Amino acid sequence: MITGGAGFVGSHLVEALLQDGAEITIVDDFSNSSDRNVKEIGGDKVKLVNKDIVDTDWSSLHSLDPDVIFHLATHPRSFSIQDPMRNMEVNVKGMLNMLEFARKKNSKVVYTSNTGIYGNPPSVPVDESFRDDPFTPYDANKLIGEHYGRIFHKIHGLYFVTFRLATIFGERQKINEKLGWHPVIPEFVQLLLNNRVPTIHWDGKQTRDFTYVKDVVNGLILGAKSNNAAGEVFNLSTNKETSIMEVYQLICKILNKDVKPTAGNALPGDIRRMRFSYDKAKRTLGYEPKYTLEESVRRYINWFQSAKN
Ligand SMILES: NC(=O)c1ccc[n+]([C@@H]2O[C@H](COP(=O)([O-])OP(=O)(O)OC[C@H]3O[C@@H](n4cnc5c(N)ncnc54)[C@H](O)[C@@H]3O)[C@@H](O)[C@H]2O)c1
Repeated sequence: MITGGAGFVGSHLVEALLQDGAEITIVDDFSNSSDRNVKEIGGDKVKLVNKDIVDTDWSSLHSLDPDVIFHLATHPRSFSIQDPMRNMEVNVKGMLNMLEFARKKNSKVVYTSNTGIYGNPPSVPVDESFRDDPFTPYDANKLIGEHYGRIFHKIHGLYFVTFRLATIFGERQKINEKLGWHPVIPEFVQLLLNNRVPTIHWDGKQTRDFTYVKDVVNGLILGAKSNNAAGEVFNLSTNKETSIMEVYQLICKILNKDVKPTAGNALPGDIRRMRFSYDKAKRTLGYEPKYTLEESVRRYINWFQSAKN
């Protein structure tokens, strides 16, 4: 089962698991996705359940017995400051509903959390022993979700693994105006291709650990297949930092554009430096990112142009 399986990361996970021969049920309310993602990757082979995970009645899923639940459904970070209540409902109450279901079904749970929980680190790279300092309601709620999962592991013996994801990008990542969701690579690519001028917030020197979605999916599947990771937290990242200005220049180079960006103010909750060690995931699970930034940005741009978005 994949909650949020119609979303960006979820759709790549579905694709990889289908190649592994898995039987998949997606649970999604399509608040930040459409079934188009799923159709693009062979959706006739998966079962789709249109459901809001906040709703405590999970009886429509009663007949399922998932070996693994990948819990990806989330209310996005960018909108959590305007609507912390809905963010808490989806990321905490929805999490508890899922954990109760997993406990009854004795399913393994793989949970996608966020490296934003570390806040503004005084030095990088940041590993999993770094203190938590959430800056937004989203990060706080994702952290509560981690705690609940570990509590279910300790009390009920639930197999629960947390992955803290760096900044993920790749094909099918989309802007959602309604939810105020503007991931930086899609934003720059789409504006530049529409001959518009992108805004770079703050001074553009803030960095991200940009990680290609297919590398992340590989990590999530390793976590599901492992039997040594219960109760553990792992970063999924590249251990490299790239500034927003550098990624902008890379996109301009690939698109053969010479556009001076507009300067904008820093966004609330923005983080100065992000670079995360994945040593623990490498040692325990054999995770290692395979794609370079340039190669994966090119893959995103090719998809975007061929998908005629
Ligand atoms: N993309 C990133 O850079 C990134 C970084 C860190 C962590 N993560 C985590 O990875 C996971 C996947 O992120 P994504 O980028 O694919 O997000 P996404 O928004 O594309 O996917 C989330 C999916 O959850 C669904 N959803 C939202 N609320 C729901 C609800 N109440 N009930 C059922 N479904 C609901 C949405 O419709 C969407 O299909 C999330 O848990 C997110 O916190 C992502």
